[in-house]
Amino acid sequence: MLLRSYARAGTLVAKRWCKPCQVRHSTATALHFYQNRQLELYASKDAKRLTLRQLVFFGRVMDEDRLIKAANYVRTELAIRIAHRLRDLQTLPYVVVTQEGVARVYELYWSAFEEFRRFPQINTLADNDVFCQSLNRLLHEHATVIPNLTLGLSLSSPHIAPEVLDSFMRRMLTSRISRRVLVEHHIALSNSFRHQSQERSDSEQPVGIIYTGLNVTQSIQKCVMLLKESSRSDTLWPEVIISGHLDTKFSYIREHIEYIVFELIKNAMWATVVKYRGSPLPPIQATIVAGEDDVGIRISDQGGGLTTPHIKSPSDLFSFSHIRNASRMDNSRLGTLRTVSSDPRGVMATVDEQLSSRAVDQREPVPQCSEGPEDGIELGIHPRMGIGLPMSNIYATYFGGSLELISLDGWGTDVYLRLPKLGTQLEGIEV
Ligand code: COI
Repeated sequence: MLLRSYARAGTLVAKRWCKPCQVRHSTATALHFYQNRQLELYASKDAKRLTLRQLVFFGRVMDEDRLIKAANYVRTELAIRIAHRLRDLQTLPYVVVTQEGVARVYELYWSAFEEFRRFPQINTLADNDVFCQSLNRLLHEHATVIPNLTLGLSLSSPHIAPEVLDSFMRRMLTSRISRRVLVEHHIALSNSFRHQSQERSDSEQPVGIIYTGLNVTQSIQKCVMLLKESSRSDTLWPEVIISGHLDTKFSYIREHIEYIVFELIKNAMWATVVKYRGSPLPPIQATIVAGEDDVGIRISDQGGGLTTPHIKSPSDLFSFSHIRNASRMDNSRLGTLRTVSSDPRGVMATVDEQLSSRAVDQREPVPQCSEGPEDGIELGIHPRMGIGLPMSNIYATYFGGSLELISLDGWGTDVYLRLPKLGTQLEGIEV
């Protein structure tokens, strides 16, 4: 995986006398050695993890000094967090590193690491504007990371133990969420500062990317509406009945909760439509509970449950290993990953256009179904990447929440999502 760096450096090869070693080194070796020393230096530092509450407190009252301080935090912190993941990639077995997609991710991370490491200290608002432009570009350049990584690691599945594969993916994805949160939050704070809209009396106004009065019922309703809109107009979907503490509001990143809820409701609807082909569809129940420390959402469907001959336990659906989840090596899924790896808009365009672009590059397409001439309903299953549930699990646990799937085989599925309400838990440990 370092081959490209060698190759790049190789164009500069020239001999140079090295006093301590008393030999002539090539510039390529020296350059590469220097780059790796820089990586070691950054990788040896601990990430400064934050809580949601700290992100809100810091962003609530913004002035020039605080914005510049935040910019320098993002600049140095991103170099450290990316260095951790580069070290992680370097320790993968060769057979994994050479799989399609992995080298691409390694190169993207290496060049982003170099960019953050070399970015000069930010001293003025004008410097921050230039920094934000770079951040926006990097966000865009990294849009294909998840499909590339998933493709490479799915192809590697026969060569690594499931627990090694899953813990590697977990670190990569948690860390990626963390970096994108820091970057998107900083861009949003900079934009609102630039537009002088930093009075926060209105709780509907987000602080950066955090909604301090996020209305859970409205988020669920929005996901249901988007799901219905993004499928064919002749599709019959089950009704979603929302009950419980309907006026629950809390501070959270709206894109994260909506990513999860969208995914869960989509799965519940899909299972119901498949099970009840042509007959009246039983409704899906979404129950909201505002506890003392957490907000809970339970989604119950009658779509038949999750366990199949290939899925022994519902938590296998969170796994990237084909040993736990055989569908990981399906040709159609690998084909979709290949398409999306080179063009993230591909199959996801319909949903992307309607949802915020933030969590979009990992969002699954909505299955399509239509009335068929003979059997009443024909299910035109859209190609899928199969990362919606693992990603939802990582989003849920990122600030200390949880996601649990309970299958009542032959009847349906209950999903329990729990998100901490107070914002006092640190980001996932593996950033
Ligand atoms: C990623 O999306 O993987 C990132 O690390 C984004 C960051 C470089 C802005």
